[in-house]
Amino acid sequence: MNYDEYLQKCRGLSPDILLENDNLYSNPIRLFSPKSYSSKAINSLNSLAKSVKTTFDKGQRDGIYDDSDVCCLKDIWLYENELKDICNDLVSKLEKNMFGCYLYVDKIYIYRTKKIEIRESSYLWHYDNNPNEIVKSIIYLNDVNQLNSPFEYLIDANEKGVLRKGTRLGTKKWDPAPNDGRVEDEVDALISTSNYTNVKLTGTKFTTCAFITNVFHRANPIIDGYRDVLNIRVKPTTKKPNEYINRKWTSSYEVSGAVNRNPELDWRSGIQTNKDFISIIKSMIKKLFQLNKNNFLSFK
Ligand SMILES: [Fe+2]
Repeated sequence: MNYDEYLQKCRGLSPDILLENDNLYSNPIRLFSPKSYSSKAINSLNSLAKSVKTTFDKGQRDGIYDDSDVCCLKDIWLYENELKDICNDLVSKLEKNMFGCYLYVDKIYIYRTKKIEIRESSYLWHYDNNPNEIVKSIIYLNDVNQLNSPFEYLIDANEKGVLRKGTRLGTKKWDPAPNDGRVEDEVDALISTSNYTNVKLTGTKFTTCAFITNVFHRANPIIDGYRDVLNIRVKPTTKKPNEYINRKWTSSYEVSGAVNRNPELDWRSGIQTNKDFISIIKSMIKKLFQLNKNNFLSFK
């Protein structure tokens, strides 16, 4: 089953979620102002932002992974209560405004953008090549202007985000993206037609951008200042979980960010990764075993 079919199934099994407007694909980027959060969520966001800033400012080695382009917080569960408050607000909004079905959180990342000299990785225009039913929300944990790494995306003449056609749709089609999803020339060509515009998202702390991960997007390097981000990824589910995030089904950097090709594996199946690689190894071992067996028989 592909993810689009699964979404329809989920919608049919989420009777208490009333979708306000069925425009998930035609409006793949949603912005939420800090004012859209409840006071409880704002308290948790403030507490999280303060603590995360301290951790990154101190550069505490045991609490941080130093990746090539970002510094990442190792243990998101230090902020379990805060994250639950924030997800209760945000994910319920995504259920009603974007998906029209139950959701759960399968990934949370907390990171600080680094100063880099040369654009590479997510600093290049790209699409994540996940199914279109995978949505990430980035929440700025401090004020972001043109100089401290605004998130950038492409919009069309109707000011809607632009989706790139992906090659990973679900169990019926799951192919790697050409050029690893990097699309610098394609975006330059689109912008040159004047029907498309690149937008750098600036805003005060807790400005939130929820987007289908196949929109054309990129990060920007820090020129001055810093940027801390909370990144929350959701997936549709046919069965409402008791809570949106849980150690059993929500992971961070310790587990691969690859989405599983089977949309039916949801929070009830635990933490999901793409098992393609394991299946490939298994089939190689099987073939090898078969070959040896045939050789052995031929000697008899
Ligand atoms: Fe990305």
